[in-house]
Amino acid sequence: MTNGLHFRDATLDDATFYADVFTALRPTRPTDPVVERYWWEQPDDTYVSRRWVVQRHGRDIGVATFDHPAWARLRVPHGDIGGDLSPDRRDRATLDALLAEMERRLVAEGARRVAVRANEDDELRIATILARGFHEDRRHRRWLLDLGENGTRIAEMATESRARMRAEGIRVLTLDQDADPDTYRKVWRMNEEAVQDVPTTLPNVEETFEDTMRWLRAPDMHEDRIWLAREGDDIVGVSVLGYPPVRGVVGTAWTATARRVRGRGIARALKCETLVQAIALGVDRVQTGNDGANDPILHINASMGYRRWVGAINFLKDVPAG
Ligand SMILES: CC(C)(COP(=O)(O)OP(=O)(O)OC[C@H]1O[C@@H](n2cnc3c(N)ncnc32)[C@H](O)[C@@H]1OP(=O)(O)O)[C@@H](O)C(=O)NCCC(=O)NCCS
Repeated sequence: MTNGLHFRDATLDDATFYADVFTALRPTRPTDPVVERYWWEQPDDTYVSRRWVVQRHGRDIGVATFDHPAWARLRVPHGDIGGDLSPDRRDRATLDALLAEMERRLVAEGARRVAVRANEDDELRIATILARGFHEDRRHRRWLLDLGENGTRIAEMATESRARMRAEGIRVLTLDQDADPDTYRKVWRMNEEAVQDVPTTLPNVEETFEDTMRWLRAPDMHEDRIWLAREGDDIVGVSVLGYPPVRGVVGTAWTATARRVRGRGIARALKCETLVQAIALGVDRVQTGNDGANDPILHINASMGYRRWVGAINFLKDVPAG
């Protein structure tokens, strides 16, 4: 018990409640319960995740979490705290008690740097976080693309990109069309190289091959919608939209190219194919998100017609040892 709150260990069946809490808080960007549950079911090689249902007077009023990369993979142990309250139970004192308890538990596990995130328009959460001694670290930009308004622009860009890829000797195809038995491993290696180039304060931790396979098999992913670029035997690019099965906005899960091929239009060509396909599937808009200092992808998104959406702020706090 802390401040009248009780933290009950979450079970798999609480994944739906978790998705409902976040959907009620941000109805324009719903959380899919099936995707959420899938991730709760997965053992993860890289991250340790803990989850609780927050109760008051025996009623479930919110959810609380922390995640951290396995300590053996880090020089300075860091982790993220998360969670929130149902809108009708949300006030500053309760949110503060929730975050304080997550911080306490994460630090008790050994964390020395604690991260937490808030949406840019969430004044209550931002004020609560700042008052807990966190400072702003980075901005996460979110974008929306209206496929009705931008359909012609995307179709023209895709035609140009296809011609450029032919001239560059790059084959663009979906994962299900790729017969190479090593493709999955090649996608994993290329992703791991590219992840190191995503701007960040906290170090990006390498994922295992099994983590990548769990990601590729998630319920919002489809092998015939995962777009790859091939140069000879090498996989040199990937871009994929996630399609939430129950609710949510279709959105880019990841776009990356191998270092040695950057600047040849491959990321743009792959993104175009994901969007042409989404239009054909009847999707009316797509979202994407990226670090606010990731200049190449910011440039590509802006030139494709994406408009800014409410982003997020990452906050950090250093915790003295002992
Ligand atoms: C972002 C990334 C996918 C771009 O791949 P790419 O193959 O170089 O992309 P393209 O060649 O299609 O396009 C790059 C565009 O960015 C522009 N660009 C490159 N560096 C830039 C910079 N520092 N500032 C602004 N624009 C820049 C290029 O001029 C080009 O624009 P153009 O098409 O108008 O000429 C690649 O850098 C990458 O894998 N980064 C690491 C992973 C990542 O950050 N992914 C995105 C986050 S989810």
